[in-house]
Amino acid sequence: MTTTPTTDEILGTFTDFFRERGHEPVSGGTLLPPPSDPVLFTTSGMHRLTPYLEGRPHPQGRRLVDVQRCLRTTDLDEVGDRTHLTVFEMLGSWSLGDYGHTQSLRWGYELLHDGFGIPRERMHVSVFGGDDEVGPDHESLRQWQELGLPVELTRDDNWWSHGPVGLCGPDSEIFVWTGNPGTPPQGTPTTDPRWVEVWNHVSMRYRRLEDGGLQPLEQPCVDTGMGLERLVTVLQGHDSVYDTDLFEPWTRLLPPLWNLGETPRRLVCDHLRSGIVVIGDGVRPSPTGRGYVLRRLIRRALTTLWRDDPSRTLSDLPEELLGHTLDHFRQPRGSSEVRQVLVEEERRFGRLLERGRRVLDGPRFDGPLSDEDYRYLHDTHGLPRDLVVTLRIP
Ligand code: SER
Repeated sequence: MTTTPTTDEILGTFTDFFRERGHEPVSGGTLLPPPSDPVLFTTSGMHRLTPYLEGRPHPQGRRLVDVQRCLRTTDLDEVGDRTHLTVFEMLGSWSLGDYGHTQSLRWGYELLHDGFGIPRERMHVSVFGGDDEVGPDHESLRQWQELGLPVELTRDDNWWSHGPVGLCGPDSEIFVWTGNPGTPPQGTPTTDPRWVEVWNHVSMRYRRLEDGGLQPLEQPCVDTGMGLERLVTVLQGHDSVYDTDLFEPWTRLLPPLWNLGETPRRLVCDHLRSGIVVIGDGVRPSPTGRGYVLRRLIRRALTTLWRDDPSRTLSDLPEELLGHTLDHFRQPRGSSEVRQVLVEEERRFGRLLERGRRVLDGPRFDGPLSDEDYRYLHDTHGLPRDLVVTLRIP
């Protein structure tokens, strides 16, 4: 690729590459996992494929490719930095008991290097270096050495698991150097944050049992996942995901509307965009579960907006931002329905804050608050601790 590729072109190159190598596209699902799945949201592309990775034949064959929207709340505190997003898309490829993981690494290199034009000098990889249970991943190490890439060996960072029990295995991650073009790469992925992880290739070959034991899978699989937004950032030569074409309407329309510093603007942008997608998948704010995640996203965005100016309102959110987001994620819900949910939650939160301020104005809460005060405020007035803390910031 010689000119700067758009997100759509990048998506096309990725899927074409795997289709040409016999992978069938499976259409990406919503953020909501199937009812039998205990997690709140889909957190990676392999999620919906779990039964097939565990051995059930997939109706579309043994080689699959897809683009899956995901939501991760584990990264919530990192939102606002250059690379973390709450809702993101994962490009995935799978071998369900077909080719092995070194083939996957070779294709990974070929696509990044030949397909997307990333020079070898800007790549670093990491490989599982072994622990008390499983030996080092020599095959991957040898494969990367043959391809001429620098390798870092780690333990925990290169072991992928879905949870305390279930599918797991060693993985190999590909990093791209994002320092200034004039600065030659330095350090390794664990020592220099300018190495940004773009692609994870998991050699899914074990199942963690309830008793802690590790059982080899009868049919080892390969599961790869690459964050679309990070890849786009790297390929478009930007410093942060927010500078890519994916966020173009947001970076054009938010600053004239709300004058915020960089980190708060990124947070508001991430949380509102994520909130729109979650609502687009049918979730509504509520005190528990998925609805609570949505509630937190909207309220964190509002808390940030109201810190400088309490008159700011989500009713002003430009129509283009709602439409662009719902279109991009191919969601059928209309933007007026989504806006209504946002604005209703804003009203509810506004009323709660008003009540909270009245309660906290009382003499009992003049000094530092005890745990008992927080409990009382929560149980009697419905004011969660983080909200009380925010309200007391002068
Ligand atoms: N399951 C791996 C991940 O989430 C690769 O898709 O990173």
